[in-house]
Amino acid sequence: MKGIVLAGGSGTRLHPLTLAVNKQLLPVYDKPMIFYPVSVLMLAGIREILIITSPEFLDAYKRLFGSGAQYGVSFDYAVQPKPEGLAQAFIIGSGFVGTDNVGLVLGDNIFFGANMSPLLQKARERAKGATIFTYHVDNPAAYGVVTLDGNGRPLKIVEKPKQPDSPWAVTGLYFYDNRVLDIAAGLKPSPRGELEITDVNQAYLDAGDLHVEPLPRGYAWLDTGTQDSLLEAAEFVRTIQHRQGLQIACLEEIAFLHGFIGRDQLLDRGHLFEKTPYGQYLLRLAAEHK
Ligand code: G1P
Repeated sequence: MKGIVLAGGSGTRLHPLTLAVNKQLLPVYDKPMIFYPVSVLMLAGIREILIITSPEFLDAYKRLFGSGAQYGVSFDYAVQPKPEGLAQAFIIGSGFVGTDNVGLVLGDNIFFGANMSPLLQKARERAKGATIFTYHVDNPAAYGVVTLDGNGRPLKIVEKPKQPDSPWAVTGLYFYDNRVLDIAAGLKPSPRGELEITDVNQAYLDAGDLHVEPLPRGYAWLDTGTQDSLLEAAEFVRTIQHRQGLQIACLEEIAFLHGFIGRDQLLDRGHLFEKTPYGQYLLRLAAEHK
């Protein structure tokens, strides 16, 4: 399976923070925002990842991530010239995806919870259909919203309904079979001028092939779309990391624990950042795994 991280957009809701910097490069406490969604793909065991961003920020992502060898993965890069919708990722990325299935994660979505890896692997291993992850939220009108029947099966999905009839938001993490390339290619722009991911999900729902995985209540799905939610996400990460002495979305740790890189590579990265708690954490991890 291939993975795509969509890190485009104009970040207008965060101006002036995002006048000169891509939103998904802003810090969420001690690391760039995009580390969090990349960690999700890696936890799903996906090692071929396409990063899509706006033309002016392509070089910044290449500087940040390079080939991906430091995490034992490979990164490809592509541009989305204008923010014309999430589903455009599959048009831009169709050559990269080829004949594979694909996971898409939005570059500004933060997920945290126990046993994420098995949850993700289950979706990844599903050969046919689509899997979306839903989360109980207080403000569903800000998201795609799914209505379920009594057996937890999806009945309908509506993008940003004025009057949501369910608290279940569709999170920015999606797994699709290869049909998604054709579905995306056939979409028409919505009234807001975008190729909507909700329309992709609706196509799978119509085909009886949409699986819905509710994230249990112990999970955090955090938004970073406003000044307040960005700070709250940073505070959340800081609180958990300080209390546990364990990192959230430490890409080298995930790579090491999943066998993508060896101990020597972990040590190299630790030395590279040794002036920071992040680097010291990597060195400690290497020392614990002699
Ligand atoms: C997008 C999707 C929406 C989804 C949300 C998750 O919203 O359109 O269905 O719930 O991401 O972050 P947007 O970021 O375009 O407002």
